[in-house]
Amino acid sequence: MKKGLFITFEGGDGSGKSTQIRLLKQNLEKTDREVLLTREPGGTEISEKIREIILDRNNTEMDNMTEALLYAAARAQLVSQVIRPALEAGKIVICDRFVDSSIAYQSYGRNLGDSISIINSFAVGDCMPDITILLKLSPEEANRRISGREQDRIELASDDFHHKVYEGYLELERKYPNRIVGIEATGTIESIAENIMGRVKELLGTVE
Ligand code: TYD
Repeated sequence: MKKGLFITFEGGDGSGKSTQIRLLKQNLEKTDREVLLTREPGGTEISEKIREIILDRNNTEMDNMTEALLYAAARAQLVSQVIRPALEAGKIVICDRFVDSSIAYQSYGRNLGDSISIINSFAVGDCMPDITILLKLSPEEANRRISGREQDRIELASDDFHHKVYEGYLELERKYPNRIVGIEATGTIESIAENIMGRVKELLGTVE
């Protein structure tokens, strides 16, 4: 029986996810709960090795299904080695990206359809987030924000791909309104952080 709280963050590249994750972690630590922060793809030695393969700009020949299976493999390892044990120990786990990224990027972005949720149900079993914060930013605005920095293999994909990813996220938000909290990423850092903390506190009230 899990006792912890599982929070995931989602959003397109450039949506300000990292900043908000850092602020939520700081805010939650003030509540005296133990907080574990991890990221996808990665978070374990094996998963970080898989991450290098996936994001390597030289791997231009990678098949879309190979990519999807590698994300799921990295995730399976992270769930069994880190996330599940932490939740069982009563910790709050914050994960930067999770299954919804695969639905948005591989199912919608790469047109791999229902296979992605099936693969991922094997990878995570019943270990799904209690709440998912989706930072929403249009692909055009995201492009403006990230254009100055060096981009990995996924970020370098076409505009059409990034539009499909965005649509995928909006579809997920409609499909899982009880779990996914969509927040416009164009607000101020402080207002977004407050909004997120408010939602998480509501939930902490119900699990404590
Ligand atoms: P990362 O540098 O962690 O990006 P970000 O800071 O935006 O989270 O790289 C992860 C990339 O992998 C990102 O472009 C999204 C993509 N991704 C998928 O395509 N599928 C997935 O299942 C996951 C977890 C990430």
